[in-house]
Amino acid sequence: MYQVGKEFNPNKMNFHKEIENIFDQIVAWRRHLHANPELSFEEKNTSAFICDLLDKWGVSYSREYGGYSIVASLKGREGEKCIALRADMDALPIQEENTCEYKSKVSGCMHACGHDVHTANLLGVLAILKDHTDLFGGTIKFIFQHAEEKLPGGASIMIEKGVLQNPKVEEIYGLHVFPDLEVGKVGFRSGMYMASCDELYFRIIGKGGHGAMPHKTIDPIQISAQIIQALQTVNSRSFDPTIPSVISIGRIEGLGATNVIPDEVKMQGTFRTLNEEWRAKGHELITEIAKGIAKANGAQCEVEIIKGYPYLENDQELTESAMAAARNTLGEERVIDLPIRMTGEDFAYYSQKIPACFFRLGVRNEEKGIIHGVHNSKFDVDEACFKTGVQTMLGIVLDRMS
Ligand code: NI
Repeated sequence: MYQVGKEFNPNKMNFHKEIENIFDQIVAWRRHLHANPELSFEEKNTSAFICDLLDKWGVSYSREYGGYSIVASLKGREGEKCIALRADMDALPIQEENTCEYKSKVSGCMHACGHDVHTANLLGVLAILKDHTDLFGGTIKFIFQHAEEKLPGGASIMIEKGVLQNPKVEEIYGLHVFPDLEVGKVGFRSGMYMASCDELYFRIIGKGGHGAMPHKTIDPIQISAQIIQALQTVNSRSFDPTIPSVISIGRIEGLGATNVIPDEVKMQGTFRTLNEEWRAKGHELITEIAKGIAKANGAQCEVEIIKGYPYLENDQELTESAMAAARNTLGEERVIDLPIRMTGEDFAYYSQKIPACFFRLGVRNEEKGIIHGVHNSKFDVDEACFKTGVQTMLGIVLDRMS
């Protein structure tokens, strides 16, 4: 393992020249993917584009892990160890508002979460490593994953179909663009990093009537207000305060009028946390509270919780080692510590199965006006990020597999 400050062998760890040589190529791949986005579970042309490159390079791959996913493999020197690098490749149902030459050609569809960048970056890593298989021992799986943005998530399908087996993957790494972080930097967090995300649906069934005669109704509007308040109390009083968790109600629908109390109210929300036990307990409490309050008021409440992605845990040893490798290849000042995020990511499924490290790639450049967040119609990246992204991945791989 490389220690901070320890001298590294530049021939082995520093790929500046190789990256420089293929940089324009990586940018071209990214721009092609950006201009031709495809939604989750529909990544047919994206997948074909990757397969064409792999065929051209003579790199073996498998398409048996579900959807349009591709898993390419590189074998290095003798060795049992197998690690995986993962990039997601789906786009979002957003109309792009950028006017750059590589803007989306598909109406209502955009790479607004940078998955085009993740894919091009991993292709860059693969393009270099395929010519340097003498530098690592064992096998590297390159996972080009479909459908990160849509439940049940490509990762869960690929794991079910055995992507982490044959050979057994011991460690997995992935990166994600981060518009809050300046280009040239990368960010890491050891331990709990991203939240589980579950969808909450409530239907409060009361008895409607005239707004002037509430005593003859069972008012579901008033009950919904009680439930919303109580859910926030659950969050602050019943949950372990050392485990971050959030309940937000984002939609309420009660179709009464100024003088009409409706029969029912529907509500939707999200529940996020960073611990699977608390997550299960939270589901129980949310259900009991909503049903209990409705019952106490003579109403009924149906509760449906649709489970999304689990929480993402970054393995401590992998993360510390990856940070050290990143510091050695990029320099100390370009590697930062990240706070916890309450957003979700299906990479979490891998982290529930094997030691994993998911880190962030800085893409922000205020001078160029590249400041917009992901899932924004003006999102873009400073493509110089590929120099950092490819270098960091290579540093990690060669550190762990040399
Ligand atoms: Ni994303």
